[in-house]
This record gives sequence, C-alpha cells and structure tokens, in this order.
Amino acid sequence: MSGMGEIILDGKSYKLPVLVGTEKEKAVDITKLRQDSGYITLDSGYGNTGACKSAITFIDGDLGILRYRGIPIEELADKSDFVETSYLLIYGQLPNRTQREEFRNLLSGHAMIHEGMIKFFDGYPTTAHPMAILSAMVCSLSSYYPEHLDPNDPTQVNHLVPRLLSKMRTIAAYSYKKSKGQPVIYPKSDLDYCSNFLRMMFATPAEEYQIDPDMVKALNVLLILHADHEQNCSTSTVRLVGSSDANLFASIAAGICALWGPKHGGANQEVVEMLELIEKEKVPVKEIVRRAKDKNSGFRLMGFGHRVYKNFDPRAKVIKTYCDKLLAKKGIKDPLLDIAKELEEAALSDDFFKERKLYPNVDFYSGVIYRAMGIPTDMFTVMFALGRLPGWIAHWIEMHRDGDGRIGRPRQVYVGDTQRPYIPMDQRK
Ligand code: CMC
Repeated sequence: MSGMGEIILDGKSYKLPVLVGTEKEKAVDITKLRQDSGYITLDSGYGNTGACKSAITFIDGDLGILRYRGIPIEELADKSDFVETSYLLIYGQLPNRTQREEFRNLLSGHAMIHEGMIKFFDGYPTTAHPMAILSAMVCSLSSYYPEHLDPNDPTQVNHLVPRLLSKMRTIAAYSYKKSKGQPVIYPKSDLDYCSNFLRMMFATPAEEYQIDPDMVKALNVLLILHADHEQNCSTSTVRLVGSSDANLFASIAAGICALWGPKHGGANQEVVEMLELIEKEKVPVKEIVRRAKDKNSGFRLMGFGHRVYKNFDPRAKVIKTYCDKLLAKKGIKDPLLDIAKELEEAALSDDFFKERKLYPNVDFYSGVIYRAMGIPTDMFTVMFALGRLPGWIAHWIEMHRDGDGRIGRPRQVYVGDTQRPYIPMDQRK
C-alpha cells in the first residue's frame, strides 16, 4: 500500500487504500467499500477493474510494451525458444543450463498420451472443431492423475506442469490427424518441442516429415508471442475457475473454451477466412472497410482493435516483420499477405479507425505464417492455445500461491422485477 484515497458517497467520505505497482500503475483498493458504505462498483467488461496483483506480465497499452517477467517480448522472440520462455513464465526466472536440460527432458519424456485416450478421438466426427476436441481431451487428462489434483500442493502441481505442457501439444496434433483420417504419429523424444509438434502434424507412416529449421524457428516465435497477456478473457477464466479449487486440467480446459470465441483467440481463424473471402469474391478492400464501419452490418474487421493496445500491438509488429522475412526466404508468394497489407493501410488511414485507435493485433498476420507452415485454418486457434498454455499455468499457480484463497465471485446490480407473487397456471394470460 502507498497512501490513501478518498471517495464521497451520499455526502459521506470513505478512505480507500491506494496501491502502486512496480511500473507505477495506480489502483484504489475497494475491497471494503461495500462493507463500509453499501456501494459496489460497476464496470462492464472489467475494463477498469484489477482482479489481482500479478508479477508475471507487464503491458503498457499506450506505449506498445509487453514484457514477460520483465523481459521484452522482442528480445525473447529473437533469442529464446518456447520451452525456455515457458519456464520463465511459470517459474519466474530464465533457467540455467541444467534446469533447461531437465525441463526439456521432462517434456520429452511425457509427450505420449495414454493409449486409451487415443480411442476418444474416434468418437468425434471428422468435422469436429479441434478446439472442441482439445478442451474435452485436456479436461479428460485429469482422470489419469487422481492422486495429483490438489491445487494447493506444490509437489502435485509440479508433477502435472511438464506433463500438461507436453501432452497438450500431442493432443493438438492428434486432433488434426483424426480430422484428416490419418493415423496418429507418436512423439519422438529426441526432438525439440516445436520439431516434435510439426512432425506429429505432418509425418505419415508412409512418409517422414523433413524438419525445416526456418519453420521451427517461426513456430517458436509465434508461440512465444502468444505465451502470456496478463488478465485477458481466457486467463481470467482460468483464474476464476481455479479459484474454486478446480484442478489444473479443468481450469485450463475452461480457458481453452474462452479462447475459442472470435473476439479472442478465434479471431486468427476469422482473419484468414475474411482474407480468403476477399480474394475469392474479389471484394474491394474499400468495401470491407466500409462494412466494418457500418454498425448495422454486424461485421468487424477481424484482427483489428484491442482492449489494451491503443497505439500498436507489439506482437503484431514482430509477427509482420517475421512474416515478410520468412515468406521472402522461402520464396512463398501468398496473395493473402498482399490483401492483408492493403487492408491494414486502408484501415489505418481511415478516420473511423484512427479516432478509435484501432490497430492490427496479434491475430492479423499470424495466420499467414501458419498457412506457410501448412497448418490448416481451423487449427489456428489451437496454435494460440498451445502458445498461451504456459501463461495460463503461471497465472493459475500464482493465484494459488500468492492469492488470498478467496473464490472469485463478482457482484451485480439487479435490474429485474421486484418481489411478486407466483401465479397459478389457470390464472396466467
Ligand atoms: N472493427 C470495427 N470496429 C471496431 C473493431 C473492429 N475490429 N474493434 C472495435 N471497433 C469499434 C467498436 O465498434 C466501437 O465503436 P464505437 O465506440 O463507435 O461504439 C469501438 O471500436 C470500441 O470497441 P469495443 O468493442 O468497445 O472495444 P473492446 O475493447 O471491448 O474490444 C476487441 C476489443 C478486440 C474485442 C475488438 O476490438 C474486436 O472485436 N476486434 C476484432 C476481433 C479481434 O481481432 N480479436 C482479437 C483480439 S487480440 C487477441 C486476443 O486477445 O485474443
């Protein structure tokens, strides 16, 4: 705490503690406001509500800053890999050489899923969205660890963390294989995290997958850029579900469902579908911008806008640069990249987007790189989930370790009917 604020309600003054974070962000602590005054605060969409204190990720939406445990994402994207960044997020520090090897070995050693689980995939139609499969499978993992589900026992949680990180990748690849009607490809423990994933996705019993270091690097960069984003919708979901002491798998499965929505992680799929439609139907970019501005059209420019970033999304900046470099190096010409750039330019020079500070977000260009890797559109949100997993885990652990142990339970302002009698059926109109 660093001082007191004052609020006057109905002419009465209430003193409220003021907190200042390490990056000088200020907050008024209203925990006792209702108890003292009878008032609650109302903040639809939680745009002005801090739900917790956290030491994991810092965002400055005006300056376009994003740091994990203090380290800028630009540096991590350039110098780190996804496994090391996951360690950083979850355990708070970059691993030393021994810790990194141990962590990698744990991930390699726990990549397989129970044979019985592979049969679950057969129950889904080939049209099943892989996010539906992913959330159900992750929740099902809990049934294999009944003796490790106590969220307040760090030894049990430590047992689960590398298993979940590794197995979710396997589940993601298997959900794709099943949708293609192909047999699953078992993980290989001598491969790194990203190479293993790409091989499980694209090898077949008839043909080995040739691992391409450029694609492996690109995947590492994308997963790092998605790895955490403080109290976004899915992470808040993981925290809220976790606050009831639901186990790790159940909490993460809930986060996957939250991520699926088109206003959140589902936007990356929507972006590419939008670009494909523009290409197929030859819709002029101007017309798309017009539709996005028309509130009655029900259409939004997908991959644009962000609750926090009001200048630029630093993740989008890295991805765009990376996308250009990768496609040029590989000699890939993707017409969707040209359309995306044209659309970005048109929107950024339009007053509607300027006034509302709407910029391309992380999802705007990520799909173009995923396409270059051969990853199908309906797997894009699954890729986001794989990337976000260490962030979800880090927040879930932080909440149990440093939180006050209270279940998350917002209040409301009731606006329904006041008390009225029950009307018997024969008297109802
Ligand atoms: N296209 C057209 N208009 C937009 C867009 C857009 N993409 N985004 C916001 N607006 C307008 C909105 O209509 C509103 O206008 P007005 O003030 O005249 O009513 C204003 O901008 C503010 O919008 P909002 O919905 O109140 O803003 P928000 O902070 O609640 O929503 C958002 C943020 C990301 C949900 C929203 O910008 C959006 O729907 N974007 C498209 C979906 C998308 O790309 N989502 C991925 C987000 S980044 C990855 C992630 O976090 O998952």
